[in-house]
Amino acid sequence: MIEPEAPILILTGAGISAESGLATFRGGGGLWEGHRVEDVATPEAFARNPALVQRFYNLRRAQLRDPAIRPNAAHRALAKLEATWPGPVTLVTQNIDDLHERAGHRDVVHMHGALNQAACTACDAETSWLGDLDESSRCPACAAVGALRPAVVWFGEIPQHLDRIARELAACELFVAIGTSGVVYPAAGFVAEVRAHGLAHTLEINLEPSSVHSVFHEGRQGAASTLVPAWVDELLARVG
Ligand code: OAD
Repeated sequence: MIEPEAPILILTGAGISAESGLATFRGGGGLWEGHRVEDVATPEAFARNPALVQRFYNLRRAQLRDPAIRPNAAHRALAKLEATWPGPVTLVTQNIDDLHERAGHRDVVHMHGALNQAACTACDAETSWLGDLDESSRCPACAAVGALRPAVVWFGEIPQHLDRIARELAACELFVAIGTSGVVYPAAGFVAEVRAHGLAHTLEINLEPSSVHSVFHEGRQGAASTLVPAWVDELLARVG
């Protein structure tokens, strides 16, 4: 039984944004215009065909500007948990969208970067970027042209905030993974790491059992927009 002061660590993946209208990576065969996602989201792909990679992310960035794409009940429930739970709540997301923030979540750890930021390969500056990126885009910090790339983590690159995440994995007393297929590491290995510390209860909330479902103590299968608010209500009922 978790105490109301216990630290909670939540990991989200593309499944939490699916009901907001953003496609998951591995649904529908995981292909984009005939390319495997893993073949588009790499530094090698960007070196070989920058226009193709920019277009892949431009299409995703454009979705964030679409007024029909909004946070759903699962994002909102997690924001409510952060605001209400007496203990620390850490949200680590693999998602590069900003739907957690738009739902009111204050502290979001984006381990795979953020779609609404551009990174300059000439001066390393990161800038807020809401429009398209292409070879004519100019870095607002150093004025280099054609050096901007999406500030996202590609396959073969190191995810962000791993030190903070390692501390939270060791300290949490409840670990919950939501809407993630459990095939991309290091995130897929977080549950095993938490179990190795032996402190926490672990719960998976996903449409179907993930690749690492057997490592969790508990699994709940169904849509995040229904199961996440129900789970948050259960927890908050203990706060009184
Ligand atoms: P995936 O597309 O691999 O998996 C999404 C998971 O969400 C699947 O297991 C679905 O069953 C589940 N799902 C779909 N709809 C759902 C719903 N409404 N409610 C609950 N679950 C639902 O996405 P991720 O696991 O996030 O990385 O992918 C991990 C990483 O692979 C991404 O961050 C990205 C990608 O390539 C990089 O680009 C580095």
